[in-house]
Amino acid sequence: MRGQPLTQQSKADVLVTPGRSRTASFEQHIDREIQKLMASLPNPERLSPEERRGIVARYTAVLEGNFIYWMTAAYLSVASDAAHAIIRENLLEEVRDNHPGMLRKFAMAADAMPSDGDGRAVYRNLEGVRRFVGQLSGTKIVIMMAFFEGWIQRFMPYLAELAGRLGSAEREYTDVHGEVDVVHTRELFRALDAEMALAEGPEAPAAMLEGIEVLRTLIQRIVHHTNG
Ligand SMILES: [Fe+2]
Repeated sequence: MRGQPLTQQSKADVLVTPGRSRTASFEQHIDREIQKLMASLPNPERLSPEERRGIVARYTAVLEGNFIYWMTAAYLSVASDAAHAIIRENLLEEVRDNHPGMLRKFAMAADAMPSDGDGRAVYRNLEGVRRFVGQLSGTKIVIMMAFFEGWIQRFMPYLAELAGRLGSAEREYTDVHGEVDVVHTRELFRALDAEMALAEGPEAPAAMLEGIEVLRTLIQRIVHHTNG
């Protein structure tokens, strides 16, 4: 509940102090995880054309059919009015502006549409995220989606560069997501704050980060998978 004193344990664990946003420690953690992922990206110049195609194709295989599904799971799982309103806006934009279609167009233009092999490459880790999302834990899914939006936004210049090296000039998807996801990430932290304010008591921080772990593993698979 808002204003209720935190236990010593939870203070130490999530670094929430009076007067400081209760989401601050999660924002910092997410930022660090995104930075690590970005630092691990292979140099696009040194990748073979097939490796470049593979990253675009696996990204498409994961994002095209799952982003709205996972955001919908967040909508179904949160309890606060504020979080519902924020996630509804996000979903409305995705559906109205046809973001899956934008991504498909991007992959087609780069001649990097997902193949059966690309689907198989991400299958196991994708299933891991689906099982996590199926638990319908509002706070945890919002944390995962804030991480997802934040990473997508930072990943866009890299994805655009891969497409460019694959001979494509199509940039609608990467331009749109390099812009709007800054706002989306900030809004999701506001949703998280509203959910945490409603929560009975703070959950163990490690459990709260479960979604980041499963999604990070999937993203690593997108970026680093090599055939054979
Ligand atoms: Fe989108």
